[in-house]
Amino acid sequence: MQEIVRRFAEEGYLIDPDALELIGFYPGSKEALIENVVENLDPSTLVVSASDIRSAGIGPARASSSRARPSPPHRPQVLFGGGPDGGSKIGPSPVSGIELEKSSLRGGHRIPDPMDHPSPGPHQSSFSSASDNLGDIEVLSDITGRSTCVGEYKDFVRYFRDRYGKIREMLSARLNARPIESLEKSAAGREISIAGMVMDLRTSARGNRIVELEDPTGMVTVVFQKGSSAFEQAASLVTDEVIGVTGTTDGGRMVFATSLIWPDIQSQSTPMGEGGALLSSDLHVGSRYFMEGAWERFVSWINGEVDDPHGLASAVRYLVIAGDLVDGIGIYPGQEADLAIKDVQEQYELAAELLAAIPKRVRIVISPGNHDAVRQAEPQPALFEPVQDLFGDNVSFLGNPAWFRLGGVDWLVYHGRSIDDLVLKIPGLSYGEPEKVMVEMLKRRHLSPIYGNRVSIAPEREDLLVIQKPPAILHCGHVHTMGITRYKGVTVVNSGTWQSQTDFQKKMNIQPVPGIVPHIDLKTMRVRKLIFA
Ligand SMILES: [Fe+2]
Repeated sequence: MQEIVRRFAEEGYLIDPDALELIGFYPGSKEALIENVVENLDPSTLVVSASDIRSAGIGPARASSSRARPSPPHRPQVLFGGGPDGGSKIGPSPVSGIELEKSSLRGGHRIPDPMDHPSPGPHQSSFSSASDNLGDIEVLSDITGRSTCVGEYKDFVRYFRDRYGKIREMLSARLNARPIESLEKSAAGREISIAGMVMDLRTSARGNRIVELEDPTGMVTVVFQKGSSAFEQAASLVTDEVIGVTGTTDGGRMVFATSLIWPDIQSQSTPMGEGGALLSSDLHVGSRYFMEGAWERFVSWINGEVDDPHGLASAVRYLVIAGDLVDGIGIYPGQEADLAIKDVQEQYELAAELLAAIPKRVRIVISPGNHDAVRQAEPQPALFEPVQDLFGDNVSFLGNPAWFRLGGVDWLVYHGRSIDDLVLKIPGLSYGEPEKVMVEMLKRRHLSPIYGNRVSIAPEREDLLVIQKPPAILHCGHVHTMGITRYKGVTVVNSGTWQSQTDFQKKMNIQPVPGIVPHIDLKTMRVRKLIFA
């Protein structure tokens, strides 16, 4: 509640208790609601009332209002202003190989190999922001048609504030954090806790890990002393993530950390879904490396034209594609030489033809990736309508990331471009084990915590890359390797590719894992790998 009072104070308003209570019980983003209320207030308002909250509308934030409003008071610190887009265009995703220990479906006699996992933990309800229905899909959160950002400085400030506010709230269950500005001389030598965004990371001459941590009230230098228990954890910190720290303050602007707390997820209960789901990504249709033969074997299998001793094919109800449906054009230098189809429209036409061979009983969901013909900045909207029109009625198009409920369980689908950054920055992660990178996303409650490296992030009103609530399934692609694990009840899958090793990948000694489709029984959450390569 204090945070809400302070937020309005920063905008130049007082707030009455009824209004405070209304915001306190609001289930969605409080930051977005506050922004919406402030934008719609009459400039003469001194005290925000409950009717101001109601008339601003408790729901998704509206487009900006033309009304004037009082200037916010001067803020003494940088306030999460990371600057404009620092993302860069990259070539194909580097990957490295993993051994496939399962038997193959090659040749037509296909015994899908089970891959058992420990039973899932508790599951939470869906993230209830914007909600639409696309047939049997309930969309929980998606940027498509809701982008508001124009990329002004204030958009970035608001974006980072939203990220901070959401993750700080997650931390508050485990940490009684105080504002950084309250660290005064009288607190010297006392143990305190703070929650902040990592602005800078470095190692001191003595080998200590130094972290500059910022919250909306100020900045503090946190020292993780070499040899301390928190020191090892601090080695895997990345910039722009929001963490909690407990330690001893010097009464000034320095804290000596004794523990580091990530927002992490709670264990989830077993979801009660229904039907079989196939997870795929990175088809790269149009590439001369697209594995047509493997795709044909997959189509024969799902159409019941080959042995299906477990009855899996006939029970498939869903196919979810996590980006890079086509190879696109102009994605990396020299791509033209790798293309069998040099027109992106024709690439989508062929993709539509390929997906039309899948039985109509299967609901197909397509989320875009960095090779698709939509804006590169994340969150990415769904493919454009003229492209959608090429596909059948059983195909639904969502953005990237996409939160939705399908088959009775909650899905979080994200193409996974941030894996490039996380592999580079977090010790112990590799392209060969993408599932471990995805677990780090869940621990940090963010799909792309590092701002300004390879991932371009659009400063939307809300940070849709925050993992608000744990999904039943976290599904990524992008790296062209396969990884499956279970983390605290969340089924984590990176679904590989349908593109064989390109010349570029050969030169870089990159080994993709193509032609394999993970299958999830949504009733038991058991995962199998179906091999068509
Ligand atoms: Fe890809």
